[in-house]
Amino acid sequence: LDNGLMRTPPMGWLAWERYRCDIDCERDPKNCISENLFKDMADRLSEDGWRELGYVYVNVDDCWSSMERDEQGRLQADPKRFPGGIASLARYMHDRGLKLGIYGDMGTHTCGGYPGTNLDQIETDAQTFADWGVDMLKLDGCYSNESVQAEGYPRMSKALNATGRPIAYSCSWPAYRGGLPPKVNYTQLGEICNLWRNYGDIQDSWDSVLSISDWFFKNQDIVGPVAGPGKWNDPDMLVIGDFGLSTDQSRSQMALWAIMAAPLFMSNDLRTISSGARAILQNKALISISQDPMGVQGKRLLQEKSGIDVYWRPLSDNGSALVFFSRRHDMPYRHQTSLSKLNYTTGIYKMYEVFTGKVGTVEDTSEFTVSVNPSGVVMLYVFPPVKRRRLHAN
Ligand code: DGJ
Repeated sequence: LDNGLMRTPPMGWLAWERYRCDIDCERDPKNCISENLFKDMADRLSEDGWRELGYVYVNVDDCWSSMERDEQGRLQADPKRFPGGIASLARYMHDRGLKLGIYGDMGTHTCGGYPGTNLDQIETDAQTFADWGVDMLKLDGCYSNESVQAEGYPRMSKALNATGRPIAYSCSWPAYRGGLPPKVNYTQLGEICNLWRNYGDIQDSWDSVLSISDWFFKNQDIVGPVAGPGKWNDPDMLVIGDFGLSTDQSRSQMALWAIMAAPLFMSNDLRTISSGARAILQNKALISISQDPMGVQGKRLLQEKSGIDVYWRPLSDNGSALVFFSRRHDMPYRHQTSLSKLNYTTGIYKMYEVFTGKVGTVEDTSEFTVSVNPSGVVMLYVFPPVKRRRLHAN
């Protein structure tokens, strides 16, 4: 969507995967969906070095609202859990250089059973979000159908635009239509949404991360070409820092999401996150790959019989990123290759290994070996060839 927003994949934090619909603030005050949770995360984002790296969105998901609209028919936050209201929460974010995301549903109810946005409420809800100073809307698709979605998603895009406030727009539409053409029109999505969920919900497990990643790369020729500045495929949240992934698997999720030019929304507890998980999420080389201004979604180049996959993403200034990923279950695998085998042109390249910081220089034809841990990755930032200067050139 060409609204000037999200020229690179958005980064931030989103409540859903880790906090779900926990509304029991009496017994679980620290983790329930309440303004305190979002303020806590905002404090961490602004004080622990996240914001400077680009993690600026703090996104509310389902279960934030009251069960009833107000007398004017507007959505309202649950008064017990959000006593200050959403407008004051948005101000809290803005005061800290952050942005607030809100959640709605293009149907009668949200997936959690809260009020949805019916067709005749689209303009009202868009205006309410704008009045509150909200910066992003994720529009879910539960309790809906094909025709309501086909009318509603484009209409919400127009309604948000008509408010005059820049509000990024995340559409769950394709995820509810199977994610593939002809039911899903990716050209249209690119025109009306800044990002869209194509596939099922992520869970806190390696199985889930791998099956999502495999879906996106299997369908890379369909979903990849539409992505670009202002319009991104969304394979769902990062679960790094939660309970389900090992260190290697956490690196794999981060590397594959960066190759996919995916939004980087963490769903974890930034108050207690381990230093190991933080280091992965705050890896600067990796973030600069994710945030490459050209915004081309990368792809899987190869699936070797050995169980090693090779992924590649072209970057600006003739740079590129390579990921070697292991599906093996035994031991670190020594994979041998060369840049010319991966379609690189003649020249001498510099490489930087994203997780170890090792640097090297290789000629396109020279063989090199990467040691890839089971369910882990080796990720290389490859710099353009140094042109061999011709002596005595005229
Ligand atoms: C389904 C979405 O795909 C999830 O990300 C989350 O928003 C839940 N609904 C909330 O109920």
